[in-house]
Amino acid sequence: MRKKKILVTGGAGFVGSHLCERLLGEGHEVLCLDNFFTGNKQNILPFLDHPFFELIRHDVCKPIQVEVDEIYNLACPASPIHYQFDPVKTIETNVHGAINVLELAKKLKAKVLQASTSEVYGDPHIHPQVETYWGNVNPVGIRSCYDEGKRCAETLFFDYHRQYGVRIKIGRIFNTYGPKMHPNDGRVVSNFIVQALKNEPITIYGEGKQTRSFCFVEDLVDALIALMNTEDSFTGPVNLGNPHEFQILELAQLVLELTGSNSELIFHPLPSDDPKQRKPDISLAKSILSWSPKIQLKEGLVKTINYFSSLK
Ligand SMILES: NC(=O)c1ccc[n+]([C@@H]2O[C@H](COP(=O)([O-])OP(=O)(O)OC[C@H]3O[C@@H](n4cnc5c(N)ncnc54)[C@H](O)[C@@H]3O)[C@@H](O)[C@H]2O)c1
Repeated sequence: MRKKKILVTGGAGFVGSHLCERLLGEGHEVLCLDNFFTGNKQNILPFLDHPFFELIRHDVCKPIQVEVDEIYNLACPASPIHYQFDPVKTIETNVHGAINVLELAKKLKAKVLQASTSEVYGDPHIHPQVETYWGNVNPVGIRSCYDEGKRCAETLFFDYHRQYGVRIKIGRIFNTYGPKMHPNDGRVVSNFIVQALKNEPITIYGEGKQTRSFCFVEDLVDALIALMNTEDSFTGPVNLGNPHEFQILELAQLVLELTGSNSELIFHPLPSDDPKQRKPDISLAKSILSWSPKIQLKEGLVKTINYFSSLK
């Protein structure tokens, strides 16, 4: 395999650090660009000394000047707590960040992959979600800085593709979990594990009947790389996630069982715009990428629980 130079924006984050590690393992040269808003040096510590790893402290909202063959654009806070902290910055990161990576890809004739999200479907009217569904998104709600920012980034990707022939790939990522998630970012898997390990009450929003599908991060990294390696004619968008659906309540019970915790469950009102159901239709990923997730929730949760236990 040819050794490539690959830029990963948001490379010090949860997904980005796993992706950097895998790309280095495959023998590529990795440039990790991050402003450390939610990213963490600890995530990339094991490869900071790697001869083919380079860290660039930079804000993706500013133009980028590097020489690379491929770009994975992951820079953006992904959890509601973080993306709602400075909503204007969130939408700026999505829109200006997309323009900057696209400009770079255009100049270098590099391939560029956008880490999009299932949030582009909003509170979906169809279930499971297919890529042809245009979504049901509130343009003025508290999640809009992220949802609409990601939708606008997809638009920019397609406009650069149609107008300038930039080689693009769009992956719509569904809930992903695994080691290196932020312990306090309010995402459901990390929340439940951290609460269970401390024997603190487990917080469930609503009655816990809303469903989510959870993809283990190593499966997602396989999918992102497979997507990048598709023929130029394939742009996506393509759903990347695990279609196995669980109720939030079931997840809480599984976490309790696997941690042996005696936390009680407590119920809070549902936050506004919280989607009731989320499940990807991954037929397209299966056929084009020959990919489907391999790691079952229980196995992935054990690895994630081990990681959080090691932080104590
Ligand atoms: N984890 C998921 O479940 C999930 C689901 C859907 C989509 N995604 C997308 O995948 C990508 C990675 O998500 P994650 O879970 O690893 O989140 P994360 O918050 O752990 O990582 C995001 C990274 O981007 C960096 N970043 C943020 N703003 C930046 C800026 N302006 N300039 C440079 N770097 C910046 C952060 O410091 C961090 O390292 C995001 O684009 C997210 O929207 C993730």
